[in-house]
Amino acid sequence: MRLFVGLSFTNKIRQRLSHLAFGLDNVRWVQPENYHLTLRFIGDVSAQDAVDLDLILGAIDSEPFNLQFCGLGYFGKAERPRSIWVDISPNEALLRLRGKVERGVMNSGFGAEGRKFKPHVTLVRFRGQKPRNFSSYFRANSAFSTAPFLVSSFTLFESSLGHGGSNYVVLNEYPLDMREEEG
Ligand code: 2AM
Repeated sequence: MRLFVGLSFTNKIRQRLSHLAFGLDNVRWVQPENYHLTLRFIGDVSAQDAVDLDLILGAIDSEPFNLQFCGLGYFGKAERPRSIWVDISPNEALLRLRGKVERGVMNSGFGAEGRKFKPHVTLVRFRGQKPRNFSSYFRANSAFSTAPFLVSSFTLFESSLGHGGSNYVVLNEYPLDMREEEG
């Protein structure tokens, strides 16, 4: 099973993000039901590992927090971008949650994360060629932002290959509550 830990969003938030999914030709838009923010990519694990991971994640104590989308970014080089994503405002609480997930995952013997953590929500992936109107799309949408919204849970996802790309299935949802003591 190919797993990752992340945040899922309400329909309202997905809808806001989906307004950005226009204006680039010959690209693979992420379907709004698949929008997510990855906290920790796990990769391929056994069914037993998935059970262990579920227990680890269920034991995490972290507080609910506000998240705000703000601006766009891309991965890859300017002359050969790979994807465009929605950025977030600086967020200490998100980093604390990410740290707890990371420690839990590492202490349980799962492999190290291959890449540096950059919170983002991927909107679109490119098939190789840079889209003709990449720069104008980026300029036109780079001021995108939302009001802050409450994140009150995080999610264990399974990634499976479906029609036209990956589909993300929610395996479990872990509430964030106020039990946490500061510090
Ligand atoms: P992406 O959106 O930037 O492609 C499911 O594949 C999620 O895990 C996606 O959000 C993807 O990020 C992320 N992901 C895929 N492979 C990864 C890797 N090797 N390291 C970190 N995150 C990865």
